[in-house]
Formats: sequence, C-alpha cells, structure tokens
Amino acid sequence: MFERTLYRSDMLKCALCQDAPCDAACGKLAPSSLLRSIWFDNEKGAAGRLPAQDPCLNCPGNCEAGCVRPGEVPIRKLIKRLRAEVAPQMEVPLPQDEERLWTDLCGVPLENPFLLSSSVVASTYDMCARAFEAGWGGACFKTVCSLDIHEASPRFSAIDGADGSIIGFKNIEQLSDHSAQENMDIFRRLKKNYPSKFILASIMGQNEQEWEDLARMCEENGADGVELNFSCPNMMEGGLGSDIGQVPELVERFTAAARRGTKIPLLAKLTPNVANMSPAAEAAVRAGADGIAAINTIKSVIGVSPHTYVSAPAVHGQSAVGGYSGNAVKPIALRFMAELGNNPLLKGKHISGMGGVENWSDAVEFILLGAGSIQVTTAVMQYGYRIIEDLKAGLNLYLAEKGIGSVKEAVGLALGSISATTDVLERDTVVYPKFHRDRCIGCGRCAISCADGGHQAIRLNAERRPVLDGRKCVGCQLCVLVCPQRAITSSGRRVAKKQQ
Ligand SMILES: Cc1cc2nc3c(=O)[nH]c(=O)nc-3n(C[C@H](O)[C@H](O)[C@H](O)COP(=O)(O)O)c2cc1C
Repeated sequence: MFERTLYRSDMLKCALCQDAPCDAACGKLAPSSLLRSIWFDNEKGAAGRLPAQDPCLNCPGNCEAGCVRPGEVPIRKLIKRLRAEVAPQMEVPLPQDEERLWTDLCGVPLENPFLLSSSVVASTYDMCARAFEAGWGGACFKTVCSLDIHEASPRFSAIDGADGSIIGFKNIEQLSDHSAQENMDIFRRLKKNYPSKFILASIMGQNEQEWEDLARMCEENGADGVELNFSCPNMMEGGLGSDIGQVPELVERFTAAARRGTKIPLLAKLTPNVANMSPAAEAAVRAGADGIAAINTIKSVIGVSPHTYVSAPAVHGQSAVGGYSGNAVKPIALRFMAELGNNPLLKGKHISGMGGVENWSDAVEFILLGAGSIQVTTAVMQYGYRIIEDLKAGLNLYLAEKGIGSVKEAVGLALGSISATTDVLERDTVVYPKFHRDRCIGCGRCAISCADGGHQAIRLNAERRPVLDGRKCVGCQLCVLVCPQRAITSSGRRVAKKQQ
C-alpha cells in the first residue's frame, strides 16, 4: 500500500511558498502545486497531473536551485516517485468534472461540500470573494452580533508537530468587530456577485428578541442559512456562546426565537465542552433547527512558560482559557459526529462537520460519520484558501475510485462501525503484527515500546531484527504504531486466544 507519510517526510523543507520560485525556475510545469498535493494527501491527484513525457528528463534541476531553500527539497526525486510508484496505483483516471461534489445544505444547492467556517477567515467581503474564486462552495461568515467587540493582542498560540506545522491552535477571539449593518451590506454584495455560493450567516444574540431580529435581518440581506453560535468559549460576558450550548433549555429557547425570525435553514452550532452533545442537539431540533454544526473550539490552556509562569498567548503578563482547534482536535470532533449521526432523534437533520479538517481524507472521515457539509478555519489560517484545490480534487478522486456517485451517497457510511461503549467488542481473538524485514532498519523501537509499554513479546536478534514471542504477544499493535519505518503492519489474521 502507498504510504503518504514517507513522501511527505521527504518534503519537510518545502515552505509551501506563495508564487513559488520553483515554478518560475522550472518553466515546464508547476512543481509547487505537485508538492502541495503531496502535503495534502492528494498524491494520486499529483501523479495524474504529470505530463506523459518525463518533465525532469535531462533537466539540471533549476527548480531545486531556485527554491527559497536552494537544494533542500528533492523536487525531482519526488516527481520521479509520483511517476514510478503512485501513478501505477491509480484505479481510475482523474475525474474531469465535479458532478460528484454537488450536494445541498438543507435543500439549498451547494456546488461542493466545503465552506469556510465562521471565523477570521470569513470576516470581510474581499476574503469571502477570494475564497469563492478559489473554489469554496460557501462561507459561514464571522459571527454577527450587536456587542462592542474589542480583541486582545496577541490572541493566538499553537502546538507544532515534528515537521514544524501547526497541529493544535488556541485562540481567544470573540465575534465580528463590524457592526451588524456593515455585515448585512457584505452579505448583499456577496449574494449579488456570487449567487451560486452558500452564505451561512453566523449570529449571536444577547436575548430572545436579538436572536429573532438578527436571524430575520440575515435572511432579508441575502443569507442562504443561519448558524446559531451557541458555542464560542471566549466571550467576555457570561451567559453567551458556550455558556448557552451547555444548557439545553437555553439552546431550545434561543433556537425557537431565531426560528420565529426566519424561514431559511437554521443550524445550531454546538460546543464540544460538554460530556454529550445530544441533549443540546435534540433541544435545538425540538425548537425548529434544521441541523447541527459542530464542533466549535475546545477550552484549553497552552504553553505555560517555565520562566514567566504565564501561559500563551500572554497579554501583558496575563492569559486566559481559550478555544483549541486544528488537526489535533479532529478525533474529538469525529467522536461528536458519531454521537450525532447515531442519534435516531436527529435522523434526517443536516450535520455540518468541522474541527481539524486539513485535507480531503479528513473530510471523508467526517462525511462517513454523517456530515453533509464540511467547514474549515485553522487549516485555512495556516495554508490559505488554496487548500480547496486538493480538498476538492482528492474527494472527487476518492469518490470516483470507490464508485460512489455523490457526496450524499457517502454520508454516514461508517456510522454502523462506531459504538459509544466498548462492551460490544469481541474479545476472544488476537491479531498479531507482521514484520516487513525488507523495510526494517534495526532501530529496536518496537522492542523498547513492547518491553516498557506492552507485554515484553519482542526482542532483537543478533542482526538487530525483531523476533516475536507469540505466547506473550496480546496483539495490542503498539509496535505497528511506533515503528518509524512503517515496517510493521497488522497481519490482519485473527487467532483464537485459547490457541495461543
Ligand atoms: C481565530 C478563530 C476565530 C473563530 N471565530 C469564530 C466565530 O466568530 N464564530 C464561530 O462560530 N466560531 C468561531 N471559530 C471556531 C471555528 O469556526 C471552528 O468551529 C473551529 O475552529 C474548529 O474548526 P478548525 O479546526 O477547522 O479550525 C473561530 C476559530 C478560530 C481559530
């Protein structure tokens, strides 16, 4: 099986530049877009775009020399591997149309399931317009309110992955700092100039009348749907945002108020800062919501300095609990997708999923767990609107390879595999790991983890290769996860425990 992580690890020095100098230096093709496709898990999409003639034949490597880190990114090697190793694995040609991506949000057409989520990435006319031009299906605009919003500086902090990219992101931002009237002008202009794009208006009221008035105002000014922000964890005043999402009675009351104000689709955006999301989701649906959006950010603290004793972001020596987002939160978001998707009282309701989506395979996970549309913020903040190219192309190719005719056909396909509790799992067999000696470099990481975090079933032989003691192995497969060479896989074969 093709393993993307090893390809991506070969391009860690790539800065994913704007107007990448490698493109200008090459002159024959755009290496930067191929590299981006590798980064965003769309290697097949990259391989499918390669010209028939090997573009690197007899080439001195101007692309690598012209790189902002000259010679540090093995562009030609990566292109060669796309041609030699990835292209032969393509099961279908790259789709030339985007028919499969067409879907709808509560009956309103969506040209693809990807929307910007409500945040700074969708906070002005110009930003939304550029995102639409880049190919996003719609935008959930930064939450509109009548509060006087003033933000702190700095207001973000992050946890980096080993490759230097942001994997977890904390913000202490609140809502739109434009007046509601300014935002209504933006909605009207966006709808006029981009009639096919979905304008989802996020709102937050301070009382029932405000929820009703804001919802009505958004419909009157061109919004296609309204998202009720019951989930911002960063509000200065109590009783707003996630304080509402944690109390189903308040969710019901304010959803009903918004419902009085508008007939267009209404989504309740719920907070993950709860044990279970179903009580709030059911309350929203009882009060007339057409669907649920989730997740908003998770309350968090990042990076307590051992020197200043202040966590990040530090604002004049003080910080605050703030919302965590980005790829690190995806498992938590998926857990809520599964909860909502498996709730019979929410059957038929639209779920707009978000929390950590960076690439098409992240999006597929949300869709398979019941999300009918996908929203994104943190990945856009890190990489820009251009990620939509690989989101769409990767999803389109995945659906074509699977023979799935549309996004809608894929919604919820994995829900049956998830149980909220572990009591349903079979416990009478084990699955042993399989060691691929051709890839093993003899580092012994499997043996260390098995000795200190497993069941002492692996030892290294004289050639520094792992040897498994089947009587001790419990099939936990920790070794599969820690091997830096991906040289251990699951054997896939179940063996009855009593035969061990
Ligand atoms: C800087 C920032 C500002 C945000 N502002 C809002 C907001 O105004 N309204 C809202 O409903 N969600 C807001 N969010 C939450 C996002 O819309 C989204 O729910 C969350 O970040 C998870 O998605 P992600 O991992 O793709 O970022 C904000 C998130 C970030 C990072």
